[in-house]
Amino acid sequence: DAVERGEYRHYMQKEIFEQPRAVADTLEARIGPHGVLPNIFGVDGEALLQRVRGLHIIACGTSYHAGLVAKYWIEEYARLPVSVEVASEYRYREAVVPDDTLFIAISQSGETADTLAAMRESRRRGYLGTLAICNVPESSVVREADLKLMTRAGPEIGVASTKAFTTQLTALALLALQLAHQRGLDHARYIELCTQLQHLPRAIENALKLEPQIIELAAHLIHRQHALFLGRGAQYPVALEGSLKLKEISYIHAEAYPAGELKHGPLALVDEDMPVIAVAPNGPLLDKLKSNLQEVRARGGELLVFADSAAHLEDNIAHGAILRIDGGGDFIAPAVFTVPLQLLAYHVAVLRGTDVDQPRNLAKSVTVE
Ligand code: G6P
Repeated sequence: DAVERGEYRHYMQKEIFEQPRAVADTLEARIGPHGVLPNIFGVDGEALLQRVRGLHIIACGTSYHAGLVAKYWIEEYARLPVSVEVASEYRYREAVVPDDTLFIAISQSGETADTLAAMRESRRRGYLGTLAICNVPESSVVREADLKLMTRAGPEIGVASTKAFTTQLTALALLALQLAHQRGLDHARYIELCTQLQHLPRAIENALKLEPQIIELAAHLIHRQHALFLGRGAQYPVALEGSLKLKEISYIHAEAYPAGELKHGPLALVDEDMPVIAVAPNGPLLDKLKSNLQEVRARGGELLVFADSAAHLEDNIAHGAILRIDGGGDFIAPAVFTVPLQLLAYHVAVLRGTDVDQPRNLAKSVTVE
């Protein structure tokens, strides 16, 4: 056990640090300087994707958060409508399926009971086809799907998912690019996005170098009962994932909100005992986020801001701390910003002395309903 963990204290930490390699493996032989390579979804894949007029993404837990990021990407670049839903809801309601909709199941294990049942249910609902994004080639979800795109994270032991998530984002980014290209995204922009994606392993490597600063931030959180995560745009699902990581392994109650929703409820909770962790986008939404942060500051809340190094954010914005990260570009930034949030949750949990790899009451794979 200790041998497999090598120099790392927990599997989770090892798996966080494996992400540059896992993401590079997931990109291997799938993308090149001229774009996404042919047939990465199988020989019939391209023809089927050409016919797609909409997508329904179904998943649970962390895999659901990956689906939420993909919605931002696919709608922006491929201009196709995407709906994302947790499997346990989808399977029991009468979802409307427009013609030529692709069903996508995202699952690390490929054995999650609700995801598998949702996929079986989808067969009755008249989809164009099914695509599995999964980490286990011999799993039920992969066996039953028409198309598959494997994540190549390797075995993930820590119950809290880390490298499975960033490799899912990698696979979904490839899908978004393929769909965008087929639907006529401006070629220069397409190549620029492909270049960003190829740079993702390096960008994650850089983000991992922030570990010492994150350990310092973690010390601020260990005696807290609650934390609020904020994000906007594609960084909103990243905030959701950061909050899930924190609650899963540190047992601190955490919630995530799209920052624009702050004044519709969560602001009532903000006081000096409520740390607010913001993931700042770099783009048109940055100014909007700044004004959300002012509202928090005015109420004495401690702010931890994860900001893009290219973003113009004054140091005094935070009544707390700003950590600057090179997001590697607008497209891949959600995957890059995930990493410091994983490290934050990990170090808070370590400092609180919880069982990081085996959090209480949780299972790695939920194979019963
Ligand atoms: C459990 C795990 C999570 C995982 C979720 C979905 O809750 O603890 O880490 O995200 O199941 O699992 P899947 O294998 O379908 O991605």
